[in-house]
Amino acid sequence: MKRFLPVDQVARDARFRWVKDAERAEDPREGDLGNGNYQRAGRFSTESEDAPERTRRLMHGIFMGEVQALEGAGRTCWDFDTGEQTDQAPYALKLDMARQCWDESRHVEISVKLSDWMGTEIGEFGEGRGLYEAACNRDPALRLTAVNRGIEGLAIDVFATMRKFGLEAGDAVLSFCEDWMLADEVTHVKMGSDWLRRLTAEDPERRERALEFQRLVDKIFSRAGRGDSAEDARRYRRLAGFTDEDIDEAHDFLSPEAERAFRREMTADAHVARA
Ligand SMILES: [Fe+2]
Ligand SMILES: [Fe+2]
Repeated sequence: MKRFLPVDQVARDARFRWVKDAERAEDPREGDLGNGNYQRAGRFSTESEDAPERTRRLMHGIFMGEVQALEGAGRTCWDFDTGEQTDQAPYALKLDMARQCWDESRHVEISVKLSDWMGTEIGEFGEGRGLYEAACNRDPALRLTAVNRGIEGLAIDVFATMRKFGLEAGDAVLSFCEDWMLADEVTHVKMGSDWLRRLTAEDPERRERALEFQRLVDKIFSRAGRGDSAEDARRYRRLAGFTDEDIDEAHDFLSPEAERAFRREMTADAHVARA
C-alpha cells in the first residue's frame, strides 16, 4: 500500500464530488459558510429562515470531515516508520491514532444517521478536502497540530454551537449527536496539543518551528471566545490543552493574503506520493 496517498487518490464512489475551495466560495447556496472559514460564518439562530438548510449543509460538511479525519488518522499509523526520529512516528502516537480511527468511524456512522434524520442525501453537497490535505504533512508533529489541534479544535466550536442550537430548536437527535461527537473531539484536540510538545521535547529548534506553525493554525481555526457559544467553546478548549493566553492570542486574525499563503504551506504535501 502506498505511503502518503495524494489527495486526488482517496477512495470515493460516484456519490461524491470533490469541490475545490475556489469553486465552493462561488456557490450561492454556501452563503456565509462559502468563505471557506467557518470561524467567520454568521451565527446560527433558530429564528432565521435559512437555519434548517444551513444546518443540513454544515452537517454534511462535518460528515465529510469525519470521513477524512478517519483517513488522516489511519494514514498517520501507516505513512511513517515507527520510531523516535523526526521523520518517524512513535508507537504510542500510532496507538492514539488507532484509537482515533475507532472514534471517527463512530462519528461517520452517527453523521450518516443524522443525515437521514435531517433529510440529507449522502453526496448532496460537494466535498471540500481541506482536512485530508492538512493530514498529508510529512512531519507528524505538524500534521497533528494542523488536523487535531487546528481543524478538530474548530470542530469543537461547531459541535458546541450546534448542540446548543439543537437544544434551543427542540431537536433532541441533533443535540445528542453533537454532544457525543464533542466528547471525543476534546480528546483528539488534546492529542494534538500534547504530541507537538512530546515530539519536539529534545529539539528546541524543531519546537520553535512547531510552535510558530501552531500559532498560525490557531489563528485560522479558533473561534473560541466569540459568538453565542463562546464560553462553552473556551471551556472545551481548556480541557483540550489550550491556555487562556492561546485562546486570546488566536483572535488576532491573519490578513487574507497571509492566511491564504499559510493554508497553501499547510497543505503543500497533499499532492506528493512516495513509494
Ligand atoms: Fe470526529
Ligand atoms: Fe476527531
